[in-house]
Amino acid sequence: MNTEICPMTTKEERCPAIQRAARLLREGKLVAFPTETVYGLGGNGLDPQAASRIYAAKGRPSDNPLILHICDREELPPLVRRIPEAAKRLMDAFWPGPLTLIFEKSEKVPLESTGGLDTVAIRFPSHPVAQELIREAGVPIAAPSANLSGRPSPTTAEHVIQDLSGRIEMILDGGPVEIGLESTIIDVTGEIPLILRPGYISLVQLREVLGSGEFDPAILGKPDSDLRPRAPGMKYRHYAPKAELTIVEGKPEAVASRILSLAKEKKNQGFRVGILCSEESRGRYDASFVKTIGTRAKEETIAHNLYRCLREFDEEEKEFVYSEAFSEGPLGAAIMNRLMKAAGYRILQAGGEDENLP
Ligand code: TXA
Ligand code: MG
Repeated sequence: MNTEICPMTTKEERCPAIQRAARLLREGKLVAFPTETVYGLGGNGLDPQAASRIYAAKGRPSDNPLILHICDREELPPLVRRIPEAAKRLMDAFWPGPLTLIFEKSEKVPLESTGGLDTVAIRFPSHPVAQELIREAGVPIAAPSANLSGRPSPTTAEHVIQDLSGRIEMILDGGPVEIGLESTIIDVTGEIPLILRPGYISLVQLREVLGSGEFDPAILGKPDSDLRPRAPGMKYRHYAPKAELTIVEGKPEAVASRILSLAKEKKNQGFRVGILCSEESRGRYDASFVKTIGTRAKEETIAHNLYRCLREFDEEEKEFVYSEAFSEGPLGAAIMNRLMKAAGYRILQAGGEDENLP
């Protein structure tokens, strides 16, 4: 299949491309498009066949439900059985934006889009290209992240091209996305609002609006524990780089010296090694190994660059990568959730009593 790639820089380019993309979506075809979080792989959310095409293009297990994207709150009622009060308050506070809400689904939503669940995930993105595309298509757009299953989510059109060129009809190139991590998923169908996937909207913000809220306990531990995550996608080891990634936690000096000794050991054994660190600690490492992810003074930069850095390590065919932890700020939960998954939960404490620091 030939994948058409459409630049979206000028208005002259944008309008006809969005019209063609919307037509393709109505015909049951697939189009990748930018959102403020990551690029999405869109198909008609009410068409069971489009859902199976999405799963096939991504190589994704079909029990992992899709998020339906809408461009107006008016589009919500036909898709859901009821709208809880808590959902209304969260929508007032955060829509359009990087927040996905779980509702009981209506008859209109095919089980193929929800992985067989009787609930549905709905998001109203703020990105203008996403909004125009959904409006023009006239249907809710089912869109997982536009990566091959098991690869980091795409934050640029180039990433989408790397993964899906030849597998989908069209890619709308809106440049790099703003946030770089997928939306926060909140389930308000039960008594306590639950974060099923941490994202840009934090637990603190959720509690500010609703006065209560918790993380789904299953996402705080390893996926092989007894707890079953409520977002089926959270049980997979997503975001897996080719290298064996290890996170090192602790005081900055201890972390740097532990990472350096681990990296040197592997390098001396002939392996290709990488280090992921913040701008603040860059000077502590040997410059030839290091990738700077962003600054701790502005953790949005770390969120924004995480997936790009992981993809670059893949391109450089690194075999072992050591990363600092980035857990301090309000975005720490989301960043560490993705980083821990990428690391297969391999995390070391530097400077602990059982450590032999050089
Ligand atoms: O930021 C985002 O949310 C991006 C952009 C494209 O909008 N989309 C995205 O989709 O990350 P995806 O398919 O990669 O992740 C969807 C997550 C999965 O973990 C899935 O299990 C969960 O949402 N999910 C979808 N429907 C659900 C439901 N009814 N109940 C619980 N979890 C659900
Ligand atoms: Mg995904």
